[in-house]
Amino acid sequence: MKTVGRSGGGISVRAYAPGRVNLIGDHTDYTGGLVLPLAIDMGTTVELRRHGAGVELVSAHSPDPAVVPLAISEADAAGATGWARFGAGVVAVLRPAEGGLGTVRTTVPVGAGLSSSSALTVALALALGAEGEVLEVAGLCHRAEQLGSGVPGGIMDQLCSLAGEAGRALLIDCATLAFTPVPVPPEWEVIVAHSGEERNLADSAYAERRRECDAAADLLGPLARANLADTGGLPEGPRRRRARHVVSENERVRAAAAALRTGNGPALGAAMAASHLSLREDFDVSTPALDALAAALSAVPGVFGARLTGAGFGGCVVAVAEAGTWTRQAGQLPWRSWVVRASAGATVEITG
Ligand code: GLA
Repeated sequence: MKTVGRSGGGISVRAYAPGRVNLIGDHTDYTGGLVLPLAIDMGTTVELRRHGAGVELVSAHSPDPAVVPLAISEADAAGATGWARFGAGVVAVLRPAEGGLGTVRTTVPVGAGLSSSSALTVALALALGAEGEVLEVAGLCHRAEQLGSGVPGGIMDQLCSLAGEAGRALLIDCATLAFTPVPVPPEWEVIVAHSGEERNLADSAYAERRRECDAAADLLGPLARANLADTGGLPEGPRRRRARHVVSENERVRAAAAALRTGNGPALGAAMAASHLSLREDFDVSTPALDALAAALSAVPGVFGARLTGAGFGGCVVAVAEAGTWTRQAGQLPWRSWVVRASAGATVEITG
């Protein structure tokens, strides 16, 4: 089992954690379903000198430092504001022996659905001495991020940031947390384009969607084990539609993983298009800007398919295309867009 983290006192460390893009499988992780994300070549670096009874971080992305006492309680961490809340969540859950003074820099666009908050949480946890098996550290970061952000997210983002592999997506079964690397054909490219809508999940309907899924599971049993016919037995309304999304999305993740393995671009594209539609119609997390962007990208020659990625409510669309597509065409689209590469997971090194 891969392990991460380095302990030690009075030392300087540099921790790096990547963001992620989810190829398919959204709003399935917290129901014990399937997801297919990849860690990307955009990430967050925390450089920290470990000492003292508190954590103080500065970042070029914020005028205010994040200051967190080591003795912070979970209740106080839950009430923390600004970007310090992520540090508060990490400190309250990790309970590090030493604090530290450090800097944070990131290349992950914030509020874009590319897991900037998990990249920060994971990098900071590693910088403060989190160590152990990947699943243990992911579990700790998951709790820390839930606490700090106030969003009852699933574990996909933290696990992907820690376990990512170069050239591979990760097929994660969120019921068992078993993850299987699935190679992304090198002749394909993964494009991410920003809708221009930044979103803050704490102010979104994310928690409400999770409650609706829980309510559907109260009637049906675990959604990850239900089939489409089962969902038809739910009363008409949000619970039925949310469950239909989750159940059909799990099927699409399976189809997409098979398409990656066999290099079948059209099959992957069809699964991605159906996923976007389901997130729009049944899960109600798309926006007109995301719909327009997904449609525009899907129409670009060379693109197999496109869909909103992450929680939705704004943020980014992911597209998979033949290599060269972005340079040839999508680079001229009027959105901020990037080609991202499936990358290795988080690292930490002692620098002094
Ligand atoms: C956010 C959460 C994840 C996941 C996605 C939707 O990124 O942090 O756990 O639920 O939304 O798939």
